[in-house]
Amino acid sequence: MTVAAQFTRTPHPAPTSAERRQEILAAPGFGRFFSDHMVSIDYVGGEWVNAEVLPYSPLSMDPSTMVFHYGQAIFEGLKAYRQADGSIATFRVDANAARFQRSAKRMAMAQLPEELFIESIRQLLAVDGEWVPPAGGEESLYLRPFMFATEAGLGVKPADGYKYLLLGSPAGAYFAGGLQPVRVWLSTEFVRAAPGGTGEAKVAGNYAASLLAQQEAAAQGCDQVVWLDACERTYVEEMGTNNLFFVFGSGSDARLVTPELSGSLLPGITRDSLITLAADSGYKVEERKISVAEWRTGVESGAITEVFGCGTAAVVIPVGTVQSAEGEFTIGDGQPGEVTMALRETLTGIQRGTFADSHGWMRTL
Ligand code: PLP
Ligand code: COI
Repeated sequence: MTVAAQFTRTPHPAPTSAERRQEILAAPGFGRFFSDHMVSIDYVGGEWVNAEVLPYSPLSMDPSTMVFHYGQAIFEGLKAYRQADGSIATFRVDANAARFQRSAKRMAMAQLPEELFIESIRQLLAVDGEWVPPAGGEESLYLRPFMFATEAGLGVKPADGYKYLLLGSPAGAYFAGGLQPVRVWLSTEFVRAAPGGTGEAKVAGNYAASLLAQQEAAAQGCDQVVWLDACERTYVEEMGTNNLFFVFGSGSDARLVTPELSGSLLPGITRDSLITLAADSGYKVEERKISVAEWRTGVESGAITEVFGCGTAAVVIPVGTVQSAEGEFTIGDGQPGEVTMALRETLTGIQRGTFADSHGWMRTL
């Protein structure tokens, strides 16, 4: 049996009207609206079963289900983009499928086969393709695959059952200010992840662990936290939902530095893509440690001209001001930089099909 043939389909009995859907797609925000259907697959008795497309609906779960107690839960985030010819394309879906497997492995969970991950997306887009916003704008359909333990019981051990679900959520700008440079808070009191921990996996608990610092950042008037390494509290790791890039110099002499994959930061697919695109554009890119002191002195001396965050949800977002308990400093003139915007343009151009996809990243499912 083919992977596709394993899926059953139950159409939504009362789908969203075309009028209401268009209203939502015109200003979706982030993560507030969901398409009419979802995909569900269970892992039971060592096999992937019950693959289905069904109406988006609540779940009913036993209160002792292990995920509520011991937190085996992982997720992914990727987007589907409307192309100028009306078709729908996904960006680096195989990279998300592979990272989902690595996250599962780190959490001692069952690993969903890559072809089933990709087929689940194909199945959702087949029924909810109209939820992918029109071409030409910033909007896309954010896809949220996730998986959690379903075994009921309180013994601490890897569960023997899991549920995989896939949701579609139309998305516009992640930050309320759109492309306005964000203000970030250097977290020195809390850390996100430590060597040997779960930082490089996309696990729900990493985000739970980050929320107090994010709350602190918001109370300081900042948009996001910047995490430092857990051991020395010296080196920059990443932002709450983004990887970071530092631009040294300008014009054709500009070079980029991004924190090396330390094991405790998320290996972002946008990060990886931008390393490639920056090199294509002739910029030198270094993956290495960068300290807060180098960041501050680099900005003060003018050596660092731009800093930006990148991720699926936020795309490429300029960092304007860095704030900490010790004070603040502003990068350049606090406005979006040239290299930042050029890389953003290239990436989004590939995603929308207006730039050549020379690395074969786009896939119509
Ligand atoms: N770092 C964190 C903590 C994230 O949540 C994300 C978002 O997914 C990223 C980095 C960027 O990863 P990606 O580019 O794969 O979306
Ligand atoms: C993403 O960019 O996909 C993220 O995971 C960020 C987030 C909303 C958690």
